[in-house]
Amino acid sequence: MKISTKCHQRTILFLISLLMLTFLAPSTSFAVVKDIRSDSTVSSPITYDGKSLKINGKRTLLISGAFHYPRSTPDMWPQMLKESKSAGLNCIETYVFWEGHERQEGKYDFSERYNLPLFLDLCQKNGLYVILRVGPYICAEWNYGGLPWWLATKPGLVTRTWNKPYMDAMESWVMELGRQVANRQISNGGPIILVQMENEYKNVAKRYGEEGQKYLAWAEQLGHRAGFNVPMIMCEGASPSSIETLNGNSVWKRIEELHKRRPDQPAIWTENWVAWYDIWGEKHHTMNLRVVIPEIIRFFAAGGAGMNYYMWHGGTNFGRTAMYLGTTSYDYDAALDEYGLPTPNLQNLKLMHTFLQHNAGIILEGSRSPVQSVKQNGKEVVQVCSVNRADSVLDFVFNMTDSLKTVNMYGVDLSLQPKGVVAMEKSDGSFKVAYRSWDQPTLLPKVNLITANVCLSWTTRLDPLPTGVSGAAKFKVVQLPHNMLAETRDETDYGWYRTSVTREKAGLITLAARVSDRLSVWVNGKFIGTVPDRLPENRKLSGPYLPADNDAKKFALQIKVPLVAGKNELLLLVSTLGMIKGDWMIDLPMSQTQQGLLSPVYLDGQIINQQWSFAAGMVGEHNRWFTTGGAKTTDWKPYVKPAQLSWFRSSFTLTPKEISGDPWMLDAEGLGKGMIWVNGRNIGRYWQDAGPQRYYHVPSAWLKAGANELVIFEENNGTPQQVNLIRRHLTMEPAIINN
Ligand code: GAL
Repeated sequence: MKISTKCHQRTILFLISLLMLTFLAPSTSFAVVKDIRSDSTVSSPITYDGKSLKINGKRTLLISGAFHYPRSTPDMWPQMLKESKSAGLNCIETYVFWEGHERQEGKYDFSERYNLPLFLDLCQKNGLYVILRVGPYICAEWNYGGLPWWLATKPGLVTRTWNKPYMDAMESWVMELGRQVANRQISNGGPIILVQMENEYKNVAKRYGEEGQKYLAWAEQLGHRAGFNVPMIMCEGASPSSIETLNGNSVWKRIEELHKRRPDQPAIWTENWVAWYDIWGEKHHTMNLRVVIPEIIRFFAAGGAGMNYYMWHGGTNFGRTAMYLGTTSYDYDAALDEYGLPTPNLQNLKLMHTFLQHNAGIILEGSRSPVQSVKQNGKEVVQVCSVNRADSVLDFVFNMTDSLKTVNMYGVDLSLQPKGVVAMEKSDGSFKVAYRSWDQPTLLPKVNLITANVCLSWTTRLDPLPTGVSGAAKFKVVQLPHNMLAETRDETDYGWYRTSVTREKAGLITLAARVSDRLSVWVNGKFIGTVPDRLPENRKLSGPYLPADNDAKKFALQIKVPLVAGKNELLLLVSTLGMIKGDWMIDLPMSQTQQGLLSPVYLDGQIINQQWSFAAGMVGEHNRWFTTGGAKTTDWKPYVKPAQLSWFRSSFTLTPKEISGDPWMLDAEGLGKGMIWVNGRNIGRYWQDAGPQRYYHVPSAWLKAGANELVIFEENNGTPQQVNLIRRHLTMEPAIINN
């Protein structure tokens, strides 16, 4: 008895000293961040198995929406997040935009649209988890795929592979990001439940081989070192120790194969491409619910555990943030429109979300029976997927055809709309129709465009041509080929190249060069033309061969120029449309991207061997004519018929009441190509000559009570007289019942 008491006392003493040791442990032990899945001493709020994620021990079906914070203004975030939650999302997914957070190397920006900590806090406040896709390569139709431009000017740097200059820059950034937001993970009481490093690595895996795989494993570890300890995901090309997630359309077809390779991981669909992004010169893309809804239902019927709409709110590529050729609107025909307003699609999807969450238990835990098919005249017309748990069954009945079909289920005739899907809940021997994909809410939102009561009257100013010695821009001698990125520092789309050639005879001569992206030519001060009218998204396929350069398929352009006998001054303006978003657009590592005159310039097949000089940017850009202060440094003339390279300026007055409420947009009808600023803020590029975008988001946060200024830089003889400000007014209208 005595002995046992002593033992007891010793045990207590031991426990007390253990406790004290724990409390007295040096705080540095907290700095060592481990992947909590592999550390049995840490109880993680987020775990997973082959069926689903478990958040605080509860199986959770993720319905997430992509919402990129810099594509809207912070004042819009609370309402949109509230709307998202009420539409049935339980999660928001965002990429992290290194390009915007570190425009200048070593100077970090987490303010305004880049206030990621605030965005995360607002997600949490609205009851939404967050999937944080760090990248830092993100694609996303963002300038340079989300990488900062200055990487492209570093000697020896190769992006997205085992390369010291790239990894050093990436490491500094990711560690900084960790300091800013790692405390907002669920393990620290925040909303972040999953973190993604890199993005769709399989698109470049072949190019970078083993070095690439080594880099990918390092990227994952870097995430952990930066303090990210929630499970790590990687979409489409994952490292062995991260969760592999799927992107694209019809991904339900790939779940079985994924589970074979990675049986302990849940099937997560990180990008459900509900529509597509727009590029200049191509048609506008839209979402088709008749395709989108059955695809989502099928995904969950086939064992999916989480899905993220890409995009849920697309928003705007403000300023010069769009990738090469991307339109300023990134609306994506998403459920929450570019202006933050709910669309009819959002309301329809909400019905489906309610049904899915109601049945989350059986969807995540139930077993799947083999798919049954119903045939008519030998052709499969209907498929039935059943999920079973205890004595409950959830049947998903898919009409595979484009016509109305009737099938008999449990002795009752079910009529199915074309491509429609019906879900039936069966328990305790009784069944009911729980969901029909074509059902609609009684009221749906409708946007009415209302011309604002604003009178725009324009003044104008030409950007002077840098001809002769009088040009205001500072020219310096360059060798061709010339990559202008180091000089433009990606702060302007424009670069001027100047030379003179002496000809014995006058004539119409073919000028050819490799150019990224467009070329405008002046001869002896006279505008000749711009090529090309349209550009392809993948540049590797574009352009004719250059004379004497059979290899130079990329970016080659030609234009006929009239030259006089004697001396001709040639002025070439290269204009760009954003940096490429990925290797495949140029079929080279994206670190090799260049802008400017990328070959010698040929006249009728002969290289111009004269000296070339270069200057970056427009005079109006250097002098900031788009700001109130800058505008005062030049003379604005009453509006006249525009010439090439015109600036237009108008002011308008708003009352405090007017700047709140309905979102604002600008109708760019009549303009050609250029850029728009409101109160000194860059709204984005426009290219009305190419389309498809007509309206431009003017964020209310950038407007003010009193005098406002609108400034346009027009490259192509467009006129501002039809430009108008418009408000988007939302009303709820009875839905047209299509049953
Ligand atoms: C994916 C990519 C996304 C986005 C999308 C198209 O391949 O991961 O970032 O670019 O395509 O919108």
